[in-house]
Amino acid sequence: MIHCSAPGKVYLFGEHAVVYGEPAIACAIDKRVFTSIRLKEGSNIRVTSMNKRLNCNNQEFRYVCAAAKKIKDLCETDFGAEIAIKSQLPPSQGLGSSAAVTVSTLMALSESLGMGLKDYEIAKIGHEVELYVQGTASQADTLVTSIGGVVLIAGIETLKINFLSMPIVIGATGITRSTSDVIKMVATLKTRYPKIVGSIISSIGEVTRQGKSKLIEGDITGIGELMDINQGLLESLRVSTLELNNLIYGARRAGAFGAKITGAGGGGCMFAIAQGAHIGKVAREIKLRGGRPIKASFSDIGVAVD
Ligand code: PMV
Repeated sequence: MIHCSAPGKVYLFGEHAVVYGEPAIACAIDKRVFTSIRLKEGSNIRVTSMNKRLNCNNQEFRYVCAAAKKIKDLCETDFGAEIAIKSQLPPSQGLGSSAAVTVSTLMALSESLGMGLKDYEIAKIGHEVELYVQGTASQADTLVTSIGGVVLIAGIETLKINFLSMPIVIGATGITRSTSDVIKMVATLKTRYPKIVGSIISSIGEVTRQGKSKLIEGDITGIGELMDINQGLLESLRVSTLELNNLIYGARRAGAFGAKITGAGGGGCMFAIAQGAHIGKVAREIKLRGGRPIKASFSDIGVAVD
């Protein structure tokens, strides 16, 4: 039996703008998806997760099944497998659970079959799997979950940034949504107001560029300010919601340096950066306002054999 895991992520800056070629910064967090694999005779792939045990004729565990198919194609051999998934990440809420499950499954299969794939190769294959399953995806999620840490994504260029380990508090609204629907909504807004939306997208790009400097300097106050500016710009793209804003304002009132959504928006999660006694206060405020607080921190650990 092989056990692997991969981290979730938050978008510190730049979601949505990254779809239009602007840079973004995403950070791996210390909440992970765990995959265990036992190869077996035949060709049947059976997945156990969330109290269900299903084979891949079923549409339920699409990322795991697509990852297994991709590995079968790559090594031109058929195999059967029992795959068990456990996750510390709420699904479809902007924390990169799809990428983490894809990447941890690819790594566990690679280890089981002696393929020896490395993190950057896994990231590339993982991105192909995400594109196959959901049609559109930037490389951010699959790259960050593969290599860990804080990653700047700028077109085809990527750069791992040195960073201070920072505590964060995530607030989950529990509302799931489809990333591609929210991307389409922004695209429609851009078609209707090309100049306005175009300049909002460029401004988000500038926030990311200045955010990179603040990260390198370790300026937490500056990072928080830029997170709040980024949130204002995302709000003007109409991707935030009443529930998210309620948690964001609560976190700021409880002393967070900054707070914003992570990922597509339209539901899902927000997160805040805070220190010391403020961490507990932010978590309590999120709970009071109907969210599920998850205390976490940035993590340098990408996909790993456990
Ligand atoms: O909600 P998520 O984690 O799927 O993030 C989507 C972020 C977008 O920038 C809107 C799209 C992308 O692929 O980067």
